[in-house]
Amino acid sequence: MPDLSDAPQSWYAACAEKTDLRKECTPMWFLGMDVGTGGTRAVVVDGDGRLISGAASEHAPFRTPHPGWAEQDPEDWWRAAQEAIKLALAAAPEPHQPVAGIGLTGQMHGAVMLDQNGAVLRPSLIWCDTRTQPECDWLHEKIGYEKLIELTCNPALPNFTLTKLLWVKKHEPEIFAKIRHIMCPKDYVRYRLTGEFAIDVQEASGTLLLDVTHRRWSKEVAEAAGIPESWLPKVYESPEVCARISETAAGLTGLAPGTPVVAGAGDQGAGAVGMGILQPGSVSATIGTSGVVFAATAQPTKDPKGRMHTFCHAVPGVWHVMGVTQSAGLSLNWLKQTFFAGQDYDSMTAAAGNIPAGSEGLMWAPYLLGERTPHLDPQVRAAFACISTVHTAAHFTRAVLEGVAYSLQDTFTLFAELGIPVSAVRLGGGGARGPLWRKIQAGVYGQTVEVLTAEEGGAFGCALMAGVGTGHWASLDAACGQAIEVAQRIEPDPIDLAAYKSGYAEWRKLYPALKTLR
Ligand code: XUL
Repeated sequence: MPDLSDAPQSWYAACAEKTDLRKECTPMWFLGMDVGTGGTRAVVVDGDGRLISGAASEHAPFRTPHPGWAEQDPEDWWRAAQEAIKLALAAAPEPHQPVAGIGLTGQMHGAVMLDQNGAVLRPSLIWCDTRTQPECDWLHEKIGYEKLIELTCNPALPNFTLTKLLWVKKHEPEIFAKIRHIMCPKDYVRYRLTGEFAIDVQEASGTLLLDVTHRRWSKEVAEAAGIPESWLPKVYESPEVCARISETAAGLTGLAPGTPVVAGAGDQGAGAVGMGILQPGSVSATIGTSGVVFAATAQPTKDPKGRMHTFCHAVPGVWHVMGVTQSAGLSLNWLKQTFFAGQDYDSMTAAAGNIPAGSEGLMWAPYLLGERTPHLDPQVRAAFACISTVHTAAHFTRAVLEGVAYSLQDTFTLFAELGIPVSAVRLGGGGARGPLWRKIQAGVYGQTVEVLTAEEGGAFGCALMAGVGTGHWASLDAACGQAIEVAQRIEPDPIDLAAYKSGYAEWRKLYPALKTLR
């Protein structure tokens, strides 16, 4: 593997020299796959970076045998992956071109545990399982809060993989004793596709076992936590080829045996690539179920208090920081299901568009599932505040849209505190689709916001990584330069700016009050 302390461009050059895959196959199509929480999606992208086809297969909903627990079966991801690949290939227009490379992304942080024969030992504890606060406390006690941030750039959070392994160690020692391999969800699908145990630096950052600064496993953390290094998959840079489709998987999916598979990235890293957030200074705000503000950085920029995540980026030689709002799109979805049955999002937001910025004082604190950034508080709960007789149903919708944007603004406030530059913000997910939420975000962030012609998400991002790893594009910048286009730039409205400046100051008073209500 090339020297990863090099600048990104020299990494690409060294990689191209070392593995000139251009000679091995004529790149035509690339396949990207996203092993999400609700389902697995596969997309086919052509050599010009255009989406050719896509298909999805749903997963069984995650199980919650106790409050705060969330478990899924890795076998179900593999079933859905096979189906999504077959459907995406079948949906692609004729004449079919060979798939020259494959990239994988997926829900991050989940713990998959295999025995010596590669059999799954128990259901995976996934990213939103929050049972492991005692294991986080144990790690902080054992290693030290500051020391853990020094070693991995992050404190222990119940979302992170290592804490889940420690829970199994404590509560299911007979299963822990049989573990020989550990991995994250998409890396299990890779194992079934190729027989290889591999992970990328971006995904590995979310395990809490990576020395994020040096982009390699942390021997110190693994040893302190009692995790044998032999259990850890080999770490690669995201666009690097790390495996090939096996004969068995080829028979099951319709892919050609020997097709190169690149390391890929976790959903946030791959999603950022799919939006062209590559070089230091570029920033996105994506509102899906959760909300993420993501900034590429030249160095691993750590928050000494650990309030945001500091991970390796999917771009070689680049890092990223991100703040996570647990219930972003989920807040609006919850509002709709609970109080607007029979209505659609368009009619709800059309009515909310007639309400003045600031919702005439009504506020929403979006803590339905506790909060990650900046509070790191899984216990706090959501609230509407300052309701008066002037408020109508439409005020409640607008307050939710604004409350979610204020919560993402908390990450921008943190960026300002840590000196992370922001010059324009690229919007993604559901928050980029409607005109009202775009306008609210521009006003709350006080930034020009950009919307892409088509945002295809993480599966698209890792199809581009496959194109880079197999030598079709010289770099991720070249791939995104061809594949991604800004459709619209929206400037903040001056009236909104004033309303949201004072609105945010008021909104910030909610958390200190809510945290006392348990
Ligand atoms: C990232 C995170 C989510 C999950 C599920 O830290 O927890 O993005 O990957 O999508």
